[in-house]
Amino acid sequence: MVIHPSFPNSPYMQLIKTIKDMQAFGRRLKAERKSLGFVPTMGALHEGHLSLARRSIDENDFTVVSIFVNPAQFGPNEDFKKYPRDTEGDLQKLSPFKVDAVFLPDAAEMYTAGFSTSINIGNIGTILCGASRPGHFNGVATVVAKLFNAVTPDRAYFGQKDFQQTVVINKLARELNFATDIIVCPTVREPDGLAMSSRNTYLNSEERKAALILYKALKLGEELIISNGMVNAVLIKEELRMLIHTEPLAVIDYVEIVAADLGEVEKIKLPVAICLAVKLGKTRLIDNIIVDRFQRKS
Ligand code: PAF
Repeated sequence: MVIHPSFPNSPYMQLIKTIKDMQAFGRRLKAERKSLGFVPTMGALHEGHLSLARRSIDENDFTVVSIFVNPAQFGPNEDFKKYPRDTEGDLQKLSPFKVDAVFLPDAAEMYTAGFSTSINIGNIGTILCGASRPGHFNGVATVVAKLFNAVTPDRAYFGQKDFQQTVVINKLARELNFATDIIVCPTVREPDGLAMSSRNTYLNSEERKAALILYKALKLGEELIISNGMVNAVLIKEELRMLIHTEPLAVIDYVEIVAADLGEVEKIKLPVAICLAVKLGKTRLIDNIIVDRFQRKS
């Protein structure tokens, strides 16, 4: 275990690089009956990640954040190589918080030579984002299982922005009996509504402006359901597509309305999630909104 020399003001934050040391950290906390919260990330931290860390710090005695860009969840033509990496910057961003440890394994530590085990999460990993990113959710499920076994957290925190990922991870935790509660936290947005994402850094200024169409479409969907009382999901999706098509830079991957288990919805029965994936130039952005009964206006 290493106390990072650049963070004399953060006496808490230890850097842990091996699974063995991470597990020893967890065992010590268990012996002391301390609770452990965990925020798994791929780095390039933004306010969305920091909100997860704050929630974990509020709800647990100790908090671990992991930073690991997981090769197994990127397809061969995806952005693994160019995915933003800034470990020093990330540690600086975490240093004002009472994060007790940052788990920073390298790829050889996580995927030892000859590694061949993989979790197949089933059909929910092949729809929505899984349709254009084959194998992505199996890669997520596999690395999250490995991270849970390394960190042994009582609670793990994920952002609602990756709605399908939260459903996948809940299923993984339930079906493989992980003793970790999965806590899904609200999407953090820029003041103009764009959901925070490490991939937003890929957008040029034109694409950044055009990206607002995602949130506009989600808000339109919410309004059609809540204020206009529309129940035909096919018609609502058509309206959303028409709005997104008004933005010349936007190319739709999917516009879907799904139930909490990602099941297809034909007639709206709340709660539902409206989920979008839209490409702007080479950047594919996702966003979603959960429409629930309490929002219905009288
Ligand atoms: O959401 C992410 O950043 C990643 O998918 C996760 C959960 C850290 C697994 O690599």
